Amino acid sequence: MVSAAGGRTPALLPCGGGFDLVKGSGGGPPDLLSVTTQVALPPGRVDFGPVTPTALRRLSNGDVFPGFSRSHDGGKVIELEAVSKLYRTGPIKVHALSAVDLTIDEGDLVAIMGPSGSGKSTMMNILGCLDVPTSGKYMLNGIDVSRVKENRLAEIRNQQIGFVFQSFNLIARTSAVRNVELPLVYAGVSQRNRRARARAALERVGLGDRQNHMPNELSGGQQQRVAIARALVTDPAMILADEPTGNLDSASTVEIMRLLVELNETGRTVVLITHEAEVAAFAKRVIDLRDGKIVRDVRNGVRSGVGSER
Ligand SMILES: Nc1ncnc2c1ncn2[C@@H]1O[C@H](COP(=O)(O)OP(=O)(O)OP(=O)(O)O)[C@@H](O)[C@H]1O
Ligand SMILES: [Mg+2]
Repeated sequence: MVSAAGGRTPALLPCGGGFDLVKGSGGGPPDLLSVTTQVALPPGRVDFGPVTPTALRRLSNGDVFPGFSRSHDGGKVIELEAVSKLYRTGPIKVHALSAVDLTIDEGDLVAIMGPSGSGKSTMMNILGCLDVPTSGKYMLNGIDVSRVKENRLAEIRNQQIGFVFQSFNLIARTSAVRNVELPLVYAGVSQRNRRARARAALERVGLGDRQNHMPNELSGGQQQRVAIARALVTDPAMILADEPTGNLDSASTVEIMRLLVELNETGRTVVLITHEAEVAAFAKRVIDLRDGKIVRDVRNGVRSGVGSER
């Protein structure tokens, strides 16, 4: 079952870059595309002219295309101030998040952990602009998103966030390169440049030789790489990954986490939810939630997961 934020199953599955997947009827895989917003990418990041083979090599090395290599300006990507989420079901009130303060710096790699019911999905929904807090303030990349209307929220979501889901959410019967290209179609990037950028994104995730494969011709780990390429291709402010290794075996888990670490090392901010300590060990910072509150917030001195096989 597809889950956009670790539990509930909204009809729309945001993928960033100006498009959302609409869940197929009967609980099947997503199969329809809906253009929820025709957004342009942030200024200076939409198009960068013809791509020569040399430029393409540099793109995939991460030193030209800003989507693969972000410069650190020391800014805050996320600032939550006293963010609360109260659910009312009849007479019962549940404080899913209670006055949470949290700042995430540009370029950080953060794992959010916690037991069932601790508020992880609620936090992801809010961070991903899928939901708004009951009270408190949420600044995403300098934009106050705590009170904006849904259509504007969809636009911000599509411009600022690349989503990676436990269940990959690739379009069936559509090649890897077409899957990666889709956000750029809806962002209005020219055909030639979006194909070049999608190819470069696939090269970047190590799938240069699988561009024309359909999702069902790829392993789980490879499908998740395609999903990461799709999340990257629009140059979002952060990648938000909801249990990105939840459906993978341990070897693919290490592969995917190494890739996220590499992307983070070239400046990409990554926030992920995980239940697994082995996955959290790859993060620079680990946040534990209990009953809607942050009870632990630690920096990993050394990323113990890097370079170690499980
Ligand atoms: N739509 C809702 N209406 C009412 N209560 C809700 C709703 N969504 C979540 N809750 C409650 O809010 C609390 C936090 O839920 P949340 O889904 O964020 O937990 P979680 O940490 O993601 O758990 P899990 O690991 O099981 O996915 C829970 O007590 C849950 O019952
Ligand atoms: Mg959850």
